[in-house]
Amino acid sequence: MSSTDAVIRPLVDVDVPAADAMAFAALAEVGERFGFDMGTRDATRVAFGQARVRHMAGTDPDGAFVAELAGEIVGIALALVRGPLWFLSLLAVRQGLQGQGIGKRLLDASLECGADCPAGMIVASPDPKALRRYSRAGFALRAGFEATGKPDLSELPAGHGVADGDWDRDAGWVDDLITGLRGATWAPELSFLANQNSQLLVLRGPTKADRAYAILHGKKLVSIGGGTEAAATRVLWAAMAQMPAAVVGNLTSDQQWAIEVCMDARLSLALTDTVCTRGTARPGTPYLVSGLFG
Ligand SMILES: CC(C)(COP(=O)(O)OP(=O)(O)OC[C@H]1O[C@@H](n2cnc3c(N)ncnc32)[C@H](O)[C@@H]1OP(=O)(O)O)[C@@H](O)C(=O)NCCC(=O)NCCS
Repeated sequence: MSSTDAVIRPLVDVDVPAADAMAFAALAEVGERFGFDMGTRDATRVAFGQARVRHMAGTDPDGAFVAELAGEIVGIALALVRGPLWFLSLLAVRQGLQGQGIGKRLLDASLECGADCPAGMIVASPDPKALRRYSRAGFALRAGFEATGKPDLSELPAGHGVADGDWDRDAGWVDDLITGLRGATWAPELSFLANQNSQLLVLRGPTKADRAYAILHGKKLVSIGGGTEAAATRVLWAAMAQMPAAVVGNLTSDQQWAIEVCMDARLSLALTDTVCTRGTARPGTPYLVSGLFG
């Protein structure tokens, strides 16, 4: 059988464990080649990975596809639509079958649910095949750094005012903030992350300009944004204090506020991430696009 025999079909629940494991292995291999660490795939990680696939397939069944060849899952694509925004959360093809057109077929299928969306966004891995695929699909490629390391907290602002958030109390204004920054709601993702016991950090100022939030899962940053750079900077510092091994991604050139904090915390920068945008998609500032959910 050759890769042309692969069938692209909607993802169903029984596909989830194999599809998630295959995608992790494909991304870990890219990590080995390009110097980023996917971390250990322990039971907690597996549970979160599978829950994430199920969340996306649940909210956006029209954007969830697998490639099947000889009864095995050899590819996955997961896209979501939130208002005007189409976002690609995952695209992976099994090693050994890459570069033979399966990724294009999966991407084309997942793009269909966003045909009416004026905005499109993808966070690309450094795999040149991914970058070529997204560029050919009409996305502009915006290079971004990933900052990693053990944060040096000696410049942590005293009295930064950031507190643990309460999902019930804070999710509403956090979603308003994100919607203002990226032009599309994050409400389903906030519910998902709350159910996954993710950590919410908030700066609850009196006006929007004084507010900011960060979400961490497993001591890793998932999302951060604010009404102003000053507010987001304070929350990023507070997040640094929660991360023994920080990973802060998607630091594109318009997010200098976050690059500053990463430098002050003595993290190490590598050009690892690419934020791809199409149409009216304009990731706002101060906001770090989430690789998981945009
Ligand atoms: C990215 C990925 C999903 C693409 O799937 P795929 O089946 O390999 O993609 P396709 O074969 O459809 O397209 C790859 C393109 O890159 C080209 N290509 C192959 N090797 C390449 C290389 N080393 N450098 C640049 N381009 C390359 C192919 O010719 C093809 O372009 P073309 O169709 O215009 O000729 C897959 O390679 C993968 O799983 N990579 C590892 C995980 C990953 O990085 N996922 C992306 C997360 S954002």
